[in-house]
Amino acid sequence: MNAPAPQGTGLTPPSFVKNPKLLAWVADMVALCKPAAVHWCDGSDAEYHMLCQRLVDAGTFKQLNPIKRPNSFLACSDPSDVARVEDRTYICSEHKENAGPTNNWMAPAEMRQTLQPLFDGCMAGRTMYVVPFSMGPLGSPIAHIGIELSDSAYVAVNMKIMTRMGQAVYEVLGTDGEFVPCVHSVGAPLQAGQKDVRWPCNSTKYIVHYPETREIWSYGSGYGGNALLGKKCFALRIASNMGRDQGWLAEHMLILGVTNPEGQKFHVAAAFPSACGKTNFAMLIPPAGMPGWKVTTIGDDIAWIKPSADGRLRAINPEAGYFGVAPGTNTLTNPNCMASLDRDVIFTNVGLTDDGDVWWEGMSEAPAHCIDWQGKDWTPAIAKETGAKAAHPNARFTVAATNNPALDSAWDDPEGVAIDAFIFGGRRSTTVPLVTQARNWVEGVYMAATMGSETTAAAAGQQGVVRRDPFAMLPFMGYHMSDYFQHWLQLGHKLQSGGAKLPAIFCVNWFRKDEAGRFVWPGYGENMRVLKWMIDRVQGKATGSENVFGVSPQFDELNWAGLDFTPAQFHTVTHVDKAAWVQELKLHEELFEQLAHHLPPELPATQRAIAQRLEA
Ligand code: GTP
Ligand code: SPV
Ligand code: MN
Repeated sequence: MNAPAPQGTGLTPPSFVKNPKLLAWVADMVALCKPAAVHWCDGSDAEYHMLCQRLVDAGTFKQLNPIKRPNSFLACSDPSDVARVEDRTYICSEHKENAGPTNNWMAPAEMRQTLQPLFDGCMAGRTMYVVPFSMGPLGSPIAHIGIELSDSAYVAVNMKIMTRMGQAVYEVLGTDGEFVPCVHSVGAPLQAGQKDVRWPCNSTKYIVHYPETREIWSYGSGYGGNALLGKKCFALRIASNMGRDQGWLAEHMLILGVTNPEGQKFHVAAAFPSACGKTNFAMLIPPAGMPGWKVTTIGDDIAWIKPSADGRLRAINPEAGYFGVAPGTNTLTNPNCMASLDRDVIFTNVGLTDDGDVWWEGMSEAPAHCIDWQGKDWTPAIAKETGAKAAHPNARFTVAATNNPALDSAWDDPEGVAIDAFIFGGRRSTTVPLVTQARNWVEGVYMAATMGSETTAAAAGQQGVVRRDPFAMLPFMGYHMSDYFQHWLQLGHKLQSGGAKLPAIFCVNWFRKDEAGRFVWPGYGENMRVLKWMIDRVQGKATGSENVFGVSPQFDELNWAGLDFTPAQFHTVTHVDKAAWVQELKLHEELFEQLAHHLPPELPATQRAIAQRLEA
C-alpha cells in the first residue's frame, strides 16, 4: 500500500478494458482521489509476487521462512485497525425505513456530501489499484462482478486469493456488462517526500453501502471486511438486496458436503456469527469412532442460495478463499485448516517466531520467544505477567480454497449444491441446548431470527456480551431485518406450495459452559455426532423427543463410539432450564419490539405458542 508510486503511470487504461461505463467511472475516481499512479490488476501470479515484494519493501509484509512456510507473508496492522467497525458501517438507502432499525443510516445525498471531502485527494502519493473480481465462478449466470479501486496493495493481493480476480473478468464484462463499483481508501494521502507508515489508515472510518445504486465506499480502514469489499460489503450487504429483488438468499453461512458410510451425500449450510465456528465446521474431520463418514468444504463464510427449477434450494460459495480466524486453530481442533496453511498464506496480526514462522495462542506449545503482532518481544513469562497476546484475538489468515485438503469437488460448480438442512448456532455459555430441530419452516425462521450470541473479537467493541444476531446476519444485513424475515418466510411458502421438500432447520450451541467456565461439549470433530443425528432426522431415521422449542435427540440416538460422554454430561449440554428460558423469551420479545414495524405476524405468534408450552 505504501510503495512510492511512479508518477502518472497507468492513467491510460489498458486496451483489454472495453467497458465505457467502467472507463468513465475509473476516470472520475482518479479525478476525485488523485492517485499518483493507476495499476490495472491482471490477476497473474507474476503480478501477485511483484505486489508482495512491493509490500515487503514497504515494510507492510514480512516474508516468512521459505522452508517452513513457503511463499507466505506476515502483515501486522495498526493497533487501531484490527476488526470490522460496525458502528461506522452504513446502509444509505433513500428511505431510512428500508435500512431498518438494526443498521446505521444516513440519507444518500448527505452521506455523499460527507464522503466527498474525505475522498478528495485521499490517494495522493499512492497507487490506485483497479481490482476486477467475480463473486462466483467466472461467467456463470449466478456470479456477479465487482471492481474495487483501492490504494492498498495489501487489499489487491488479498483479493487475488479471496475472489476470482483478474483480466478474464473484463472479458466477461465486455462492453456493456454490469458491475458493482467499490471504492476503497485507507485515507492516508502522502505529501511529496512524506515517509509512509507500515499500515496506513485513518481514525475516521466509513463503510458505506448505497443499496439502490449498488455502490460501496469504504474509507479509513485497511482490515478484512472493512477493506476486502467483495466479502461482507458486496456478497452480503449488497447481495442481500439483489436476493430480495430477485428471489434468492445471500447468507453468512458455510456450506459443507457430508457423506455417510453407505456413500450417500448430503449438503448442509450453517449460519454461525463471526468467530463462532464456521471455518471449523466446514473442514470437520469425523472422530475415529465414526469410520466412513466424510465432510468436504464448499464454503466457510458466505452462501448464495437460489431456488432451482426442481424447487430445491441450491447453494454456491461466491468466494475463492478463506479469511479465517487464526487463534485457537491447531492440528487437533482443525487439521484440515492447519494443512491449508502450509504454504501460500498471508497472515495478519499473528506472532512471528525467531525462526521466521508464525505462532498464535492455541496453535501449539508456546515458543520461548517471539515478536507479537504489535512488534514487541513476547515470552510466556511476559504473557503471564501482562496478559499480552502474541496474536491479536482477531488475527486472520488469507488462503486459497484450493489449499484445503477437504475441498469438495463441487466447490466451483456454478450449479451449486442442493441443501438438505440449515443450521443456525450462536455462542452461548448458558440456556441454549446442544441441538434442536424446528418442527417446520416457520419455527425454523423463528429460531434463526431470535438467535443470540456472545460478541467476539471479529468486530470492534465490547466482547462476550449476549446480543441478538438474527440469522448471524446482524452486521451484514443490507436492508430492513423484518423484511428479510418476511423474505425467508415467503421463499419457504412459495417452494412448499410448489410441492418441494424444504430443508430441515436446526439450531445448535457448541459453547455451553459449566460452573467452572469450561466448555461442556468437546466440540470440533466431535460435532460430527450431532451432524450425523441431523442427517438421520433428514432421512427419517431418528425419532428424537419433542420439547417446547422443537425436537432434540435422546441420549442413545447419538453415536458415542470412541467418546466417553455420560448421560449426566449429555444432560448438562441439552437440558432446558425453564427460568432461563422465561428470561430468554423476554429478549426475543425485546427484539420483536425493536423490529415491530414490518415484523411478520407469524413470528410473535410462534413466540406466544412457545411461551404457552413453557407455562404448561
Ligand atoms: P468468521 O470468519 O469470523 O465469520 O468466523 P467463523 O465462524 O468461521 O469462526 P471459526 O471457525 O474460525 O471459529 C472461531 C473460534 O471458535 C476459534 O477460536 C475456534 O477455536 C472456536 N471454535 C470453533 N468451533 C468450535 C467448537 O466446536 N467448540 C468450541 N469450544 N470452540 C470452537
Ligand atoms: C466476520 O467477521 O464474520 C468475518 C471476517 O468473516 S471479516 O471479513 O473481517 O468480516
Ligand atoms: Mn464471517
